[in-house]
Amino acid sequence: MIYSRISGTGSYLPEKILTNADLEKMVDTSDQWIVERTGIRSRHLAAEEQDTCDLAEMAARRALDAAGVEASELDLIIIGTTTPDRVFPSTACLLQARLGNHGAMAFDIQAVCSGFIYALSIADQFIKAGTFKRALVLGADSFSRLVDWTDRNTCVLFGDGAGAVVLEASSEPGILSSHLHADGAYKDLLTVPAKIAQGRLHNDGFTKMQGNEVFKFAVKVLSDVVKEALAANELEGSTLDWLVPHQANLRIIKATAKKLNLPMERVVLTVSEHGNTSAASIPLALDVAVRDGRIQRGHTLLLEGVGGGFTWGAVVLKF
Ligand code: ACO
Repeated sequence: MIYSRISGTGSYLPEKILTNADLEKMVDTSDQWIVERTGIRSRHLAAEEQDTCDLAEMAARRALDAAGVEASELDLIIIGTTTPDRVFPSTACLLQARLGNHGAMAFDIQAVCSGFIYALSIADQFIKAGTFKRALVLGADSFSRLVDWTDRNTCVLFGDGAGAVVLEASSEPGILSSHLHADGAYKDLLTVPAKIAQGRLHNDGFTKMQGNEVFKFAVKVLSDVVKEALAANELEGSTLDWLVPHQANLRIIKATAKKLNLPMERVVLTVSEHGNTSAASIPLALDVAVRDGRIQRGHTLLLEGVGGGFTWGAVVLKF
């Protein structure tokens, strides 16, 4: 049996940090409100000249280094992103050119905050089927570009960043299962309604969110999908080594950990310093915990996320 295994991880956060104290000077909010409702204390923002591909390139190079893989050896490059540099070509193709890879299949996945989970699962299918041997899978977003910095309902939540993994064919277990879902009936709860036509932007280009409804929906579908993922692998939540959740809100993460009977010590948390980096948040958290030594080879991980669409999903893997 062919498995796909993560052979290296990498991530990148832009230098500029925006704290809750900085936000207090921009909108009518407080550090206390933001921390109590979300757990977020600061977030990183891309510099004006930095685009999503710049963030992705840094994360990609670090993951390739960690895996000991050359970019020319990649058969597949997928980026989960909602903030591509251009309408087309895809950010994955832009990244491919920068890395000097010629000929690998390359494309973007648009599943908002679930983008990395979707991308990881797609790469896994190609590797398990024997079609490809080495994939580079990323979540990368400069979500701050889609945020109205005068809207306190949304601007306190988001940050920018990128995370990457190299996935390779292996006879040893790696990804055990993935569980992906979407329901477009909820399209208006979280959306950027803008479209480009006749050379102009139509509709609003900023994030619109019904926060409370999003919160309830996220807690419900994440609890369902983690149960589904555990059942498929005949696992108990308490036997997981690590939960690596999408980092949107500490209260959503705590609710999911509770469903899993997993103490918070076994949950990787970056939301406090990263905010919600959309598709980047899961691979960023993964890389942080791999590099600081918490996540070790052989550990069982559950990755989960939910985002606009709505889209949601979970991946169970042996690291
Ligand atoms: N500072 C101060 N007050 C604020 C702020 C702010 N930044 N934002 C909203 N408020 C006010 C509201 O105006 C409201 O005031 P009112 O009662 O006078 O009308 C009050 O706070 C309560 O607002 P609620 O929206 O009910 O607050 P809630 O407890 O739901 O928290 C939050 C809001 C943090 C947005 C929460 O709903 C949430 O996290 N939802 C999930 C959103 C999310 O994670 N989106 C990310 C993308 S999707 C995903 O990744 C899952």
